[in-house]
Amino acid sequence: MLAFLLSLPVLATSATDTWADVSPIVSRNCSTCHHDDGAGPFPLLSHADVSRRRSFIAEVLRRKLMPPWLPGDEGVPLHEDRSMPEADRNRLIAWLDAGAPARDGIAPIAITPPDTLPYPPDAITIALEEPFSIPSETIENEHRYHQDTWSFVMPLQNEQPILLRGVGWKTAAPKAIHTVTLLADDGCRGRARDDYDPRAGYERDGDLDRNVSGALGGIGIGIDRLMLPDGFHWSIPPNSDLVVELKYRPIGRERPLDETAYLVPASGEDSREIVAVVTGANRLQVVAGESNHVEVDRFTLPADFDVVAIIPRGRNECRSMRLTALMPDGERSVLLDVPDWDVHFRRPFRLASVQSLPEGTTLISRFVIDNSRDNPRNPYDPPEDLRIGRRTGVVGFTLLGAGKNQDASDALVEASEWTMDRRGMKKIPKRTPIPDSTGP
Ligand code: HEC
Repeated sequence: MLAFLLSLPVLATSATDTWADVSPIVSRNCSTCHHDDGAGPFPLLSHADVSRRRSFIAEVLRRKLMPPWLPGDEGVPLHEDRSMPEADRNRLIAWLDAGAPARDGIAPIAITPPDTLPYPPDAITIALEEPFSIPSETIENEHRYHQDTWSFVMPLQNEQPILLRGVGWKTAAPKAIHTVTLLADDGCRGRARDDYDPRAGYERDGDLDRNVSGALGGIGIGIDRLMLPDGFHWSIPPNSDLVVELKYRPIGRERPLDETAYLVPASGEDSREIVAVVTGANRLQVVAGESNHVEVDRFTLPADFDVVAIIPRGRNECRSMRLTALMPDGERSVLLDVPDWDVHFRRPFRLASVQSLPEGTTLISRFVIDNSRDNPRNPYDPPEDLRIGRRTGVVGFTLLGAGKNQDASDALVEASEWTMDRRGMKKIPKRTPIPDSTGP
């Protein structure tokens, strides 16, 4: 009875809504990805596209599987928040449940797929020259961690430093490429890995020792570029390569790549260089079947830190993650909360406004790992013991931001690198060899 009463207002709306009323909701929340050149597996543009899948779509909406948006209700406001407003969700479900009616006698109008925003004319474009195809299915490899991951070196060999205010990526396989993260390598370390692997690119993650992939931003499903707010820039040192890590989902047939990176120049005037601070767990040992393994890490900032973006990282055994800032005055603020982690929707999250964390703030990151059968995303059935390590974090958060000045930024980087090593040492088990992610 109660359920019936609660659903009354929604029913009232559905009695009158037609495709013309709900198509703006679909356009805003779904069509951005669900079109031919988008990440979604089928278009959701016309009345027929939606109506023929109406019960499936209603189910996916009820379970909040779509649109994909990892952050939960807690956490600081995010730039271009793409979560679906509850009112939109309920109205669309009600219309689908009512049989997805179009208006009698009027041909339903289709939604126009979104245009890609142009880049500024001075953007530097770099094509991925090596021929590579996304394999039709996951290939078994010796580095268990790096499933469905491939890295490439894209030479820049710039004589001068390059200052950037944004990075972007255009893929020929938008339904297969899920996340791309970048870093600048001025030590030819990416080349060494590439030389070691005879194939195009190399089958590893894009981290280089303590240099975390994503330090130079990246993209994900629903975000094709990361632009920094005013007052910040990335700096690529002279004689660098761009090292890119691609995370993909095999789609049952080979997909040839034809990729372009976009680097959007910055003037650097009145602006601070972005540094990456890493928090998280470097080693995971979770026995098969363990469903509620909690990892917590604490990292205390040695200087004031202005945070502009956060990139979460984790395998699919990770169920949820949360990053909290504990200020020196005892105040706590959740920066990013991911109640239902899905590695395929990993992406950078730019904060709506710069978060200034004072020196002495402790970043507390907490991860719940479910290595049981109950975790539908567990890649192994039956589950296997999880024993993996990497300096830059198996589960973690990369915070992009800047100190008040160069000294403060240097102190932040030094502390971050020091804790990467210290965390790594803490848990190395004597007997079990752990696949190492830090070099051939
Ligand atoms: C940010 C991009 C994006 C948006 C926005 C989006 N989708 Fe999707 N959708 C995807 C991707 C990618 C998949 C493929 C699922 C996967 O790879 O895990 C998908 C899959 C689906 C599926 C199939 C589910 C399945 O289990 O395979 C349905 C149904 C769907 N979307 C409906 C919607 C609806 C309805 C909306 C709007 C309310 C929406 N999507 C918004 C990207 C998006």
